[in-house]
Amino acid sequence: MARTRRAGAAVVAALILTALVGAPAAADPLPGDGKRTVWVAAADLGLHARPASASPVTVRALRGSIATYSGVSQGSWVRVRIGGTDAWAPARFLTTAKPAWRERPVWTVRDGAALRALPFASSPAVTTTFLGERGRLTGISRGSRVQVKHRGRFLWVHSSAVSTAPRFAATSTLVLVNKRNPLDPRDHVPANLVVVSGSSTARMRGAAASAMARMRSAAAADGVSFSVISAYRSYVTQRSLYARYVASLGQAAADRVSARAGYSEHQTGLAADLASGGGCRLGACFGDTAAGRWVRANAYRYGFVVRYPEGSTSITGYAYEPWHVRYVGRGVATAMREGGYATYEQYLGRPAAPTY
Ligand code: DAL
Ligand code: ZN
Repeated sequence: MARTRRAGAAVVAALILTALVGAPAAADPLPGDGKRTVWVAAADLGLHARPASASPVTVRALRGSIATYSGVSQGSWVRVRIGGTDAWAPARFLTTAKPAWRERPVWTVRDGAALRALPFASSPAVTTTFLGERGRLTGISRGSRVQVKHRGRFLWVHSSAVSTAPRFAATSTLVLVNKRNPLDPRDHVPANLVVVSGSSTARMRGAAASAMARMRSAAAADGVSFSVISAYRSYVTQRSLYARYVASLGQAAADRVSARAGYSEHQTGLAADLASGGGCRLGACFGDTAAGRWVRANAYRYGFVVRYPEGSTSITGYAYEPWHVRYVGRGVATAMREGGYATYEQYLGRPAAPTY
């Protein structure tokens, strides 16, 4: 039997299950047309050969993995296709509702991992992975082996060679960027940058810019105003900004307030620095202004999180920045708030990133 070995997986599974409150009741199988995507909730969810608990478990689905609903159900069971395999799952573990993260995570396989044709150690290695290569997991496992789709083939790898925390590509609105997770590639340039309303120069990715416009209107309706003073910054811009901080503060202090080039959320086009009138520009005191308080209380409604909260320097690697917001989408921002996660690292179950 596969067993979850990963620290934090239970917490994340519980989080996902919480997100599934609206999942269909056991007697109410999923609607669908055979093409609908459904999400498998729990890390150790067993999928059966037949629609009965007593039937053999043929595959085990990893948390967050995606199955396609076949449109066929029987009682409280639904037939799904996952990783090229048909299997039956209890309907209550699947949902058509949007989960907290709406994109398929990129799971990664360690450099040098042996990929085998069958899920047994004795099965010959078909190939090994090399540095920088990504194996995309299908989301199913057998014993301690997980299945991976590698160059169009379904192969098996030991679960210890797999990074289990979700990883998102630089193009994803969910990408984690911190001192341990640079952008890949370092000089990544986001697509569809648009000028943010209320600014003549600051640009963000389309979805983030629209959300920012909605957030500023909502704040204005509450009598609170703030503007975007910096948003997208290119690799080159960040490099010179960081160099200026180093020149004036020294490297150690600079590293607490400014990211090195390739390591800044600003380079994703999803982060923005906000300012209201008064003398609290890019200062901790912004958190005590009407704008700072409003943002802390309401940003999640528009898909933003205050990314470097007070007291989280040991996790984020940065001093308190009440003005820096990061777009992650409403689903994740709300899940973080409801789950009491102070930082994005904690929400994703990824390690703290205090230093490079
Ligand atoms: N001030 C934040 C950490 C940045 O430079 O991206
Ligand atoms: Zn910032």
